Amino acid sequence: MTAADQPTETVTREVTLDEVVALSKRRGFIFQSSEIYGGLASTYDYGHYGVLLRNNVKGEWWRTVVQERDDVVALDAAILMHPRTWEASGHLEGFTDPLVQCLGECKKRWREDDLRERQPEGELKCPECGGDLSEPRRFNLMFETHMGPVQDDASTVYLRPETAQGIFVNFKNVLQFARKKPPFGIAQIGKAFRNEITPGNFIFRTREFEMMELEYFVPPGVAPEWHRRWMDERMRWFTDLGIRPDHIRLREHGPDELSHYSRATSDIEYLFPMGWSELEGIANRGDYDLTRHAEFSGEKLEYFDQQAGEAYVPHVIEPSVGVDRATLAFIVDAYDTDEIEGRERTVLRLHPRLAPVKAAVLPLVSKAGMPDRARAVYEELRRRVPAEYDEGGSIGRRYRRQDEIGTPWGVTVDGQTMEDDTVTLRDRDSLEQSRVPIAGLADELAARLERPWRSPKLD
Ligand code: GAP
Repeated sequence: MTAADQPTETVTREVTLDEVVALSKRRGFIFQSSEIYGGLASTYDYGHYGVLLRNNVKGEWWRTVVQERDDVVALDAAILMHPRTWEASGHLEGFTDPLVQCLGECKKRWREDDLRERQPEGELKCPECGGDLSEPRRFNLMFETHMGPVQDDASTVYLRPETAQGIFVNFKNVLQFARKKPPFGIAQIGKAFRNEITPGNFIFRTREFEMMELEYFVPPGVAPEWHRRWMDERMRWFTDLGIRPDHIRLREHGPDELSHYSRATSDIEYLFPMGWSELEGIANRGDYDLTRHAEFSGEKLEYFDQQAGEAYVPHVIEPSVGVDRATLAFIVDAYDTDEIEGRERTVLRLHPRLAPVKAAVLPLVSKAGMPDRARAVYEELRRRVPAEYDEGGSIGRRYRRQDEIGTPWGVTVDGQTMEDDTVTLRDRDSLEQSRVPIAGLADELAARLERPWRSPKLD
């Protein structure tokens, strides 16, 4: 068991998106939505391990942005909001992309700004068939639906394209109950919808996705300083969770790129298989949102500073990241291959806290009382850490399966267990094996989960 599991060669090469898609499907992380009907374009469903991984991504965000801070409170606003929200926020008018359509053979639709990036010079042509393109038309990305039985203009509501507005319209409520004063933040995780013209690259850009957003309200004079602080915090979050520092960078938006609400934005970009792309946006939204909602609702959305004896509209710093996009970055960064005894192994070197399953309990063989003993160890262990039990197939195959879903520790019940109540603890990355008493196993794993972790891909 031990000798066969030593790496003979480590191949560090960059993963392709196809490999990530194949692994995600093979191991039940992510499936094409409505697959039996041929699939719905750019829409995905998460299977067991995908749900666990995503929950861990959300959990880690929540832990650092809310739980470990005194200055951030939680909110969960409805997806459907009063339609005036989107007039005030500027989304009805400004949340548009320039759409062009191929006038040649293929009739495909494209985002003009994307095409311009690919063809900086000359007249734009359809990248698919080389045909001429129509004049650009502003296309609003918000999904519309109707509330109640009558479908008319008065009943139109929108699926929110960002969770942020739910926070702004609740500013007064939160201020009243949370006993906070700026600088303080309101955090929310929730679904958002955008009728993207060109979704794609797996779960990178979809029409339905989940966001983790923080709106951090500060006195106006200190907004640039807090903007910088949140950039640093958010970069650290990704690298603490194992993203390689040379695969992540900050990029400041040029004036022509800024969203309608933004005074300054920096993107955290990740080196995805298709190149450097936005992973998270960190914007200085100024007083745009609170001022607009105050104007449209007639409510005062200000903070009264007792000491200075005056009211002011706080400015907002907003770190905003997609759960699905972050999950993709973590999978891509963790994906690795090495060779054990001449056979290639695929392994997800996820940070243990992100790994869907922390420990797999495996009887070495399906006899000599080992399955019963292993099952008992598993039932005890799973009360403390997410664990899995597997007795089917050779031990090597079971390890390979756990390596592919990123399980950091294998717990093997073997002949010695039956004699001295110890198990073999196998490390996914180093493949080191140590003997641990069953009585101390849960504590050992809990302690390992608390320790700082460094990606072995950095060595
Ligand atoms: N409230 C700010 C805001 O919505 P954004 O840059 O449009 O800013 C923030 O979106 C983040 O949401 C992006 O950095 C990305 O991680 C994620 N995101 C945006 N559109 C997405 C889409 N169509 N599919 C998946 N994730 C998306």
